[in-house]
Amino acid sequence: MRKKIIAGNWKMNKTPAETVALINELKPLVVTEDADVIFCVPAISLTTALEAAKGTNIEIGAQNMYFEESGAFTGEIAPNMLTSIGIKYVIIGHSERREYFAESDVTVNKKVLKAFEHGITPIICCGESLTQREQGITIDWIRQQIKIAFLSVTADQAKTAVIAYEPIWAIGTGKVATTEQAEEVCKAIRECIAEIYDEATAAAIRIQYGGSVTAASAAELFSQADIDGGLVGGASLKADFGKIVNYK
Ligand code: 13P
Repeated sequence: MRKKIIAGNWKMNKTPAETVALINELKPLVVTEDADVIFCVPAISLTTALEAAKGTNIEIGAQNMYFEESGAFTGEIAPNMLTSIGIKYVIIGHSERREYFAESDVTVNKKVLKAFEHGITPIICCGESLTQREQGITIDWIRQQIKIAFLSVTADQAKTAVIAYEPIWAIGTGKVATTEQAEEVCKAIRECIAEIYDEATAAAIRIQYGGSVTAASAAELFSQADIDGGLVGGASLKADFGKIVNYK
């Protein structure tokens, strides 16, 4: 039985002081034993967030990480900088990183391998554009993203990974995918993992849906057979996130 995993992606929002205030506001609302709860905050607030979340069920995650150990990579964050402060999760290959910061399937794969090397759980993002959906190539596109992201990843590592299926047209648009659309793709992702590895790996890996998830849509989405939780943007910055975490 897979444990649900519900993560907030705060994106480029909240100063360190605002981060503390929001964690204090949300911490009584996100108490649950049924799901892992992760707040992925901006890098500058990671330490502050860890401190604010101490003694709660909230885990703090990063939104990005570089695939080299150290060196002349101005502005980047090394994996051991994350592990040294106690970070266990990192979002990799969000569509905004792919669109605005030129991340590719190849760099996503490098980052995924590096995260595993350091014992950090990657939340690996995939998703199609509206054009791709209209062209009927959604599943082919997602399968390609998954196959490249998992190149050279072992089955034991893959079992612990998190995949976030986020249709780009549903991100920040208020246009949530239908339950059928979300489940269809999440199921196809699990089948792709079974093809690359085996049934046991496919059964273990956790797959989230992301894209305009709200308190109103969470329950139906998260009760689908292949949807193990969500990666939530806008609604993770509000008290609503408590309702999403406690969706049942
Ligand atoms: P929204 O929930 O704001 O649509 O964002 C989704 C997302 O991109 C989470 O990573």
